[in-house]
Amino acid sequence: MFKSEQCSALLARSRACDRLQASAGSVSSSGFQREIITPTEILRWGPPPKRRGTSAHRLYVTGDTHIPADIQKLTSKRFPVQKEMTKSDYLIICGDFGGVWDGSNEEKHWIKWLKNKGFTTLFVDGNHENFEMLCSLPIVEFGNSYVHKVDEGIFHLMRGEIYTIDNKKIFTFGGAASHDKENRKEGRNWWREEMPSCDEYKRAEESLLKNDFSVDYIITHSAPESIQSKIAPAYEKNELTDFLESIKDKTIYNKWFFGHYHKDIICDEKHIGIFNEIIEL
Ligand SMILES: [Fe+2]
Repeated sequence: MFKSEQCSALLARSRACDRLQASAGSVSSSGFQREIITPTEILRWGPPPKRRGTSAHRLYVTGDTHIPADIQKLTSKRFPVQKEMTKSDYLIICGDFGGVWDGSNEEKHWIKWLKNKGFTTLFVDGNHENFEMLCSLPIVEFGNSYVHKVDEGIFHLMRGEIYTIDNKKIFTFGGAASHDKENRKEGRNWWREEMPSCDEYKRAEESLLKNDFSVDYIITHSAPESIQSKIAPAYEKNELTDFLESIKDKTIYNKWFFGHYHKDIICDEKHIGIFNEIIEL
């Protein structure tokens, strides 16, 4: 059970973007602190017009891409329906996007490759992201909320937001605890902001409360504790999986997708672990 007092113990950890950006001397890029963002700092992004003769965007979800390691699942051979998709259609990646990592030429190649795809790419953050780079990205409006813009048609869905696409409400909450962080170096290939801050937990609660704890879909990287303990017992329980368990208990939703465990697994009628599969919502 996630307890509010757990937050007290976490208060020393400032919110991911706020802490990183404070050191950079720039404006916070967090959606949570949107009140300090001026209109000129928000690059408005409107999705392209819908396809003629259609009334709905197509919406797909898949698992970690770990650019470049697992991006091949998005080739037209393995994801052929993309030939019929437009930038008005969306693919959501359930964390560990990996395309905001080191700014290398290889990374730029894959970002350009995605940018040139027919669909728009959306992702929640996982644990294998460069949060310093992620939090320095510009913020744009999207789906009645805000996203980080990686490039044209590539956007990061922030923690604790609820996005509306074709009247479907999608609650997103990235992050996970790395089980290999002992082998990683902070600021080079590991960031403590992989785990949410108190403000992000609060933001999530506030967003859900505003929506009467009712959404259509939940997209996360980690799974609720009761699910994680069943499908990946080697993964340790933590405050995030406890928090997600509390969200599971009090929220109404149709489906919940998560990617962290690198498994395609239908846990029950609502909870789906996804990795290589690409599922239409
Ligand atoms: Fe992963």
